[in-house]
Amino acid sequence: MSSILLAGGAGYIGSHTAVELLLRDKDVIIVDNFSNSNPNVIERIERLASKRVKFYELDTRTSEFEIVFKENEIDVVVDFAAYKAVGDSVKEPLSYYENNLCSLINTLKLMKKYNVNKFVFSSSATVYGDVKVDMLPAREDYPRCATNPYGNTKLIGEEIISDIGNADDNFNSIVLRYFNPIGAHQSGLLGEQTNGVPANIMPYLTKVAIGELPFLNIFGDDYDTEDGTGIRDYIHVVDLAIGHVKAIERLLKVNNGVEFFNLGTGKGYSVMELVRAFSRASQMEIPYKIVERRDGDVAMSYADPSKAKEVLNWEASLGIDEMCRDSWNWQSKNPNGYDD
Ligand code: UD1
Repeated sequence: MSSILLAGGAGYIGSHTAVELLLRDKDVIIVDNFSNSNPNVIERIERLASKRVKFYELDTRTSEFEIVFKENEIDVVVDFAAYKAVGDSVKEPLSYYENNLCSLINTLKLMKKYNVNKFVFSSSATVYGDVKVDMLPAREDYPRCATNPYGNTKLIGEEIISDIGNADDNFNSIVLRYFNPIGAHQSGLLGEQTNGVPANIMPYLTKVAIGELPFLNIFGDDYDTEDGTGIRDYIHVVDLAIGHVKAIERLLKVNNGVEFFNLGTGKGYSVMELVRAFSRASQMEIPYKIVERRDGDVAMSYADPSKAKEVLNWEASLGIDEMCRDSWNWQSKNPNGYDD
């Protein structure tokens, strides 16, 4: 049986991936320091999969992390352990570089020491920067350019991985560039927990819907898009989780060096379209105000997911209505996230 280490596995994307792996009979080891997650997640993962998970509470930047490699036979490492708020990264660049890159480097060093040579890295569509409209949808070979420190940590991460791939023929990695993950597990047991006022649109919307926030701020309606609001490729977190399963299966099968894949649906929705879809799903009118554009936002971002379909045999199956339904189900059943 293959044993998969999920660094940062208690977080939003990691927890959904853990369930999908367990359901497919993989052994899962989760390491998390709960800096942006909650210990109650572990029990929920186990409940959903009817299986136990091996779990370590520790920080992947520290020397303590070595014990996980000493105590387990690991086949693949998936690295979810990172900060992800663009605005915070602009205010606190050093903590972003320190957290995201030191954890990555420590993980890769331990992998080398213990001869583990299969690695999945959480990258982001942010590495495409402000893609020119006539270059959309973004393909994996599109030139990269980060527009904020968070994006830089992903870009530098990709470079580190490519360099290791060039230096070491035994090293195999799949870099997954996520578009905009939203939604939650259909059971309502797993979802995105945010601390404080959410920076991303879906957790903000759901907090408006439960009355915790008065209205949604829509950041600009003067973009060069049909209704003037920004367009994104929203992807259901369970589809994203299955994308990781496919990446892991490929790494276990072939030695192909370092490969890059977009994980998106290929379809863009504007903020207004998302708000309307959410209203349909929740049967609720969502109050909103149009405000100034947010610094650093791009007008449009959506994926060309054809490489993932061709090579990984992966394709998103859930649409915007399911994404909104499941986000709302999660929020309404867990108004305080995992603290309920
Ligand atoms: C950003 C990052 C992405 C990162 C993700 C997760 C960029 C270009 N994108 O995505 O890499 O993985 O965060 O943290 O760096 N919006 C509103 N009101 C709100 C919030 C958002 O109108 O209160 C709009 C935004 O202007 C945008 C869309 O909703 O058009 C999506 O925003 P958001 O959910 O924050 O994600 P991104 O900024 O696309």
